[in-house]
Amino acid sequence: MSGIGMRGSEGLALTCVGGNALVGNALFRYTDFRAAFTRTFHEGRGGIASWCSTPRVDTLQGPPEDSEMTSTLAFDVYGTLIDTHGVVEALRPLVGEQARAFSMAWRDKQLEYSFRRGLMRNYETFAVCTRQALAHTCLKFQAPLTPEQTGDLLARYRSLPAFADAVEGLTRARAAGFRLFAFSNGCAEAVEDLLRQAGIRDFFLEVVSVDDLKSFKPDPGVYAHFLRRAGVAGGPAWMISGNPFDVIGALSAGMRAAWVQRSPQDLFDPWGIEPTLVVPSLTDLAQGIIAFNR
Ligand code: 2OP
Repeated sequence: MSGIGMRGSEGLALTCVGGNALVGNALFRYTDFRAAFTRTFHEGRGGIASWCSTPRVDTLQGPPEDSEMTSTLAFDVYGTLIDTHGVVEALRPLVGEQARAFSMAWRDKQLEYSFRRGLMRNYETFAVCTRQALAHTCLKFQAPLTPEQTGDLLARYRSLPAFADAVEGLTRARAAGFRLFAFSNGCAEAVEDLLRQAGIRDFFLEVVSVDDLKSFKPDPGVYAHFLRRAGVAGGPAWMISGNPFDVIGALSAGMRAAWVQRSPQDLFDPWGIEPTLVVPSLTDLAQGIIAFNR
């Protein structure tokens, strides 16, 4: 195998072997997508990548100087920064071994209600979707809860924990000079409280909520709203999300989008619309975007 090697200013080695590349210990794969470059970034125990062009990865120190757009990051909240399954332990005394399945069904129904309400233009807040989804899930699992138990679960949902990689990932992104926003289906006040109690509110310049528009992701209008609020309308700002529907929604609205695929078991919708970037954790995000932007 023939190859070339470079070393980045942070000591990251880039090795190109044939059409593949290994950056440090991270895997990049570049594929052509809609006349843009899509690249998949995996942490690795090593890996390969194929180039569509010769990228500049010799300086992996910070975001590009060129624009605020490519350095503006919209972080999804539920399912990306905040672990919606942080209620599983609280569910265990109520539904036993079904706690995880219950939590997943609750989350799925919550999103379904938001999608349906957005399409129907019959808006209620995300908190209402969450409460009504819990009621549906109790019916499904034949697990009637007392008002106190319901109140306790909903209170826990308002103080869910951050994912373990959130602080480190946000610290790296901020240190690299990115402009960080939280952008959520949740109402601004609820998201402010949630992020604060999880200890990550201060990383963000602002919390932007779909509630301003009385609609939900993936309505293209809410992504346009985010871009306006962040002062980058018309530009290729980044959506960062662990939710494939959110990634596809942002891409369809003209944003770039990084999918946080925390587990190889997490599946992406096979629509032929690929994330701009895939990272296995928030910790890898800043480096992946820096490499892409250059
Ligand atoms: C959020 O907008 C999609 O639930 C996710 O925070």
